[in-house]
Amino acid sequence: MNLSKIVIAIDGYSACGKSTTAKEVAKILGYRYIDSGAMYRAVTLYFLDHHVALTNPKEIHRALQQINISFKINAKGITETFLNGLSVEEEIRQMRVSEQVSPVSAIKEVREAMVAQQRKLGKERGIVMDGRDIGTVVFPQAELKLFMTADMMVRAFRRQREWLDQDRLVDLDDVVENIKKRDLIDTTRAESPLRQAEDAVVIDTTHITIDEQVDEVVRMAFSKIVSMRKTTR
Ligand code: DC
Repeated sequence: MNLSKIVIAIDGYSACGKSTTAKEVAKILGYRYIDSGAMYRAVTLYFLDHHVALTNPKEIHRALQQINISFKINAKGITETFLNGLSVEEEIRQMRVSEQVSPVSAIKEVREAMVAQQRKLGKERGIVMDGRDIGTVVFPQAELKLFMTADMMVRAFRRQREWLDQDRLVDLDDVVENIKKRDLIDTTRAESPLRQAEDAVVIDTTHITIDEQVDEVVRMAFSKIVSMRKTTR
C-alpha cells in the first residue's frame, strides 16, 4: 500500500461547502476528487429525460443498465461529469434535477449501482470523495472521515450566491425549501441515510471561510499520513 495515498470521505448536509472543500483539498494533495452527488444527479437527469417511473423497478433496472457515468478534467482544470459520453455538468445543477435527486437517490437499486462504481473509482486510493454515505457505506475504512454541517440560512445564502455567479436568479425561499426537503429525505430514507460515522470529525462551516475549511482538512490529512508512516516503521 502506498502510505502517502489515503482515502478522505466527506459527508454532510446539502450546501455546507463539501464539494468546494473536497475539490481544493484534492488539488493541494494531488489526489483525485470524486463528486458522488454528481453521479446521483446524472442518474436523475437520465430518469427525467427518459420518463423513468420511480415506482417501476423493471424500468429502473433497465435504465440503470443504459447509464454510463464518467468524470473528466477540462482545460480549465475543472472536473466535469459525463453521462453516456456527453458533458452534463451544467444540466445536473439545475433546479429540475435538484428537486428530484433526493427521491431518486433513495432508491435501493440506484444506490447499489452507484456505490459499486464509487468503490471502483476509489480502488487506487489517493482520493477525496464527498457525499452522504461515503464514510458510513462506500468507504467505511477511509483513513480520514469528515462530517460537515452549517446553519440553514448560511447554507441557503451560499447556494443562492453560487447560482447568481452563474447568472441564475433563484428565490431564497425556494433555495431554503429545496435544502430542507433534501435534508429530510436524505436523513430519513431507509437505504443508507445520511448520518455521521462514529469516527468522523465534525466541521461546522457556519463561521469559517472556505480557506479555513481547506486548511483544517489538509492539516488533518497530513497528520494522518505522518502517523501512519510512524506506525509502520
Ligand atoms: O451533493 P449533492 O447536493 O450534489 O447531492 C445531490 C443528492 O444526491 C443529495 O440530495 C442526496 C444524494 N446523494 C446521496 O444520496 N448519496 C451520496 N453519496 C451523494 C449524494
